[in-house]
Amino acid sequence: MREAYTFTKNSQINVVFSQKKDKQEDMPFSLDERVTHEPLEKLEAQLGRLVGMDQVKHMVRELYAWLYIYRKREEAQLKVKRQSFHMLFKGNPGTGKTTVARLLSDLFRDMEILPKGHLVEAERADLVGEYIGQTAQKTRDLVKRSLGGVLFIDEAYSLSRGGEKDFGKEAIDTLVKQMEDHKDDFILILAGYSEEMDEFLRMNPGLPSRFPMIFSFPDYTGVELLDIAKQMINEREYRMTAEAQKKLFRHLKLKSEKCESHFSNGRYVRNVIERMIRQQAVRLVRENSFDRDALMTLRACDLVLDEHFLMEQENEA
Ligand SMILES: Nc1ncnc2c1ncn2[C@@H]1O[C@H](COP(=O)(O)OP(=O)(O)OP(=O)(O)O)[C@@H](O)[C@H]1O
Ligand SMILES: [Mg+2]
Repeated sequence: MREAYTFTKNSQINVVFSQKKDKQEDMPFSLDERVTHEPLEKLEAQLGRLVGMDQVKHMVRELYAWLYIYRKREEAQLKVKRQSFHMLFKGNPGTGKTTVARLLSDLFRDMEILPKGHLVEAERADLVGEYIGQTAQKTRDLVKRSLGGVLFIDEAYSLSRGGEKDFGKEAIDTLVKQMEDHKDDFILILAGYSEEMDEFLRMNPGLPSRFPMIFSFPDYTGVELLDIAKQMINEREYRMTAEAQKKLFRHLKLKSEKCESHFSNGRYVRNVIERMIRQQAVRLVRENSFDRDALMTLRACDLVLDEHFLMEQENEA
């Protein structure tokens, strides 16, 4: 008998794990209200609060199905190929990589794939030492701290930046060895800008096959950046006037369209909002207005843009 799976009412699931999808695989599951999927529902509730990220949200459902069936096959004492769940996250800064890594760590814990599900965030300096022998030790220590959880290495491509003589190579070799020695004990996520990560993988031919899942984090559009801003403002119990919203949208739209290589997306929005809040505080003290409405309202004048940016905006107008 075929088992049916319940996800949240609106979620249909496609179990497609390779890039090549055939028609059959693309068919969504029929849903059965009798089976509950708490870890997925919890995860979807959290993902639902994130703006955009359609591909990531879709991939997460695939991942869930994959883990679920993995467990079911184990329970049915069917053959289960020991599988590593290491991943690559490709995307620019501030596109939500760390946020998603944290949510996935929780999922792995809830699905009992990892006992602890903690997230250890690291970058080049946490792996690479300054003298011979130090790098291997540092990398091993880092993996040790990550056992039972997720090791997230940001800007991973920087490990192969220095070429053959650089200790970064030693870090990669040690990581690969640790991935073999601790196959099921931790999950490694390597993250970084898309092009740099592709280059990194090309330079390390042993690596790509070790990462069965690749998540892409595209830059946000102007509308998405505004939605992120509104959400952050709401969460902090503020609100914007219509004029402030218009000014902010114009600014964010222009920023997103400029495609600056290292534009920091959500992180940039957070900085802008925090700056607006500081400006509002200065204005309120100056105006002596402290009623509830004033305390909550961000005005267009609280959005102070850099001189050169204002000039650019004027030129664009
Ligand atoms: N889709 C989203 N919806 C709401 N907030 C978001 C979204 N994406 C990012 N953010 C917010 O933007 C900020 C940066 O996100 P995060 O740290 O996850 O990005 P990152 O890709 O890890 O960045 P970096 O490369 O700089 O480490 C956080 O405050 C996060 O909450
Ligand atoms: Mg990050």
